[in-house]
Amino acid sequence: MADASGRDRPIQRPQKLTYRSARQASLMNEAISKTREDFPILSRTVHRKRPLVFLDNAASTQRPRQVIEAMSEFYEQDYANVHRGVHALSEIASDAFEAARYRVAEFIHAASASEVIFTAGTTMSINLVANSLGQMGVGHGDEILLTELEHHSNIVPWQQLASRLGCVVRFLPLSEEGDLDYDRLPEFLNSKTKVFAFSALSNVLGTVLPVKALVKQAKAVGAYVLVDAAQHTPHSSTDVQAWDADFVVFSGHKMLGPTGIGVLWGKLELLRQLPPFLGGGSMIQTVTTDGFVPSEPPAKFEAGTPPIVEAVGLGAAIDYLNQVGMDEIEAHERNLTAAACEGIRDLQGVRLLGSDSAQRSGILSFVVEGVNAQDISTFMDLKGVATRAGHHCAMPLHQKLGVPSSCRASFYLYNTNEEVEIFLSALQDVIAKLA
Ligand SMILES: Cc1ncc(COP(=O)(O)O)c(C=O)c1O
Repeated sequence: MADASGRDRPIQRPQKLTYRSARQASLMNEAISKTREDFPILSRTVHRKRPLVFLDNAASTQRPRQVIEAMSEFYEQDYANVHRGVHALSEIASDAFEAARYRVAEFIHAASASEVIFTAGTTMSINLVANSLGQMGVGHGDEILLTELEHHSNIVPWQQLASRLGCVVRFLPLSEEGDLDYDRLPEFLNSKTKVFAFSALSNVLGTVLPVKALVKQAKAVGAYVLVDAAQHTPHSSTDVQAWDADFVVFSGHKMLGPTGIGVLWGKLELLRQLPPFLGGGSMIQTVTTDGFVPSEPPAKFEAGTPPIVEAVGLGAAIDYLNQVGMDEIEAHERNLTAAACEGIRDLQGVRLLGSDSAQRSGILSFVVEGVNAQDISTFMDLKGVATRAGHHCAMPLHQKLGVPSSCRASFYLYNTNEEVEIFLSALQDVIAKLA
């Protein structure tokens, strides 16, 4: 297959995961073993040669060889700055960079690649939107609605905006059962609500939010809607047109891609109206001593040298995910999560955070009565099981749940049922020791 530079490169095809019947479960295991071979880091050992069981995917995922190789080949063969030169390498690099944008656009079902802005990550994307909306009519006395399960990246930029402009930040509360209290949404969404920003999937509880329905209700009061899809897009098919939000944001490093790149998708008409956030090279049509005229999106929001090689890496990650199949990835992770939750529920003194009836996808968090979450994760780590302990950048959620911190296990396409068993048995041992 020819790449953006026109040269032929052999493509190593990842294994397609199929998970539709019991018979296919063993095929699935086979496919996952093959998949794992693509991830060099998964065969390393930790702590006295224990096999690594990597269950910290919500923080950041690992990368397959295909992504690592795409990036190093690009550095070795094709690298130059983009959009600024007429020389051959700059054109090759620009083509590869724009090809990555097309891949992202297709992956999230955007209407146009011009709606895809490369940023440094989810955090940067949300800061961009918050700052630009602050120059577009959101002001004193207006309300910004978030939810109690947001990541700090989807709280602090809005609090900063609110304190600058005198807006009010409100939070849709969690119900007693540990799910968002959607029945109370009409209380929180009103004509003063100018922005509703929420996660598609909680990075702590793993619960899936009804994005389409929430967007519809927010639109009915005329609010701008931002969907934080940092934990959704890597794990499930994303259709930004079906969601119909104004902005959708996510990070490359949580979906097999490199760090330092993320995406802000926005509706083109809105991006045209939105003032740019950062100023500098590449985002202008003209500059005079009197001022500047910004470019059209996406360039308007990509001041300075963009994450070029990272975009190539993200494109390769998307190719990989497409090849494996997003629906298959989602089904696989749900199975692993369901098995892990079932095992946890059998353990005495362990509380799974979030509603029992909630639909959970790929992530679960728990606390063990009388034991510090940090101690649990540290002891699990000694057994080779990498989980995360802390507030997971969601302090308001932990405050609401009445716990200072929790342990989190999060799965991805390369995790196996055996790893879930190792995790449960390690947890059982740790509880026997510490509880
Ligand atoms: C739901 C959610 N939003 C935002 C972020 C921030 O992402 P990044 O650190 O890549 O900007 C994270 C990261 O964990 C997240 O889980």
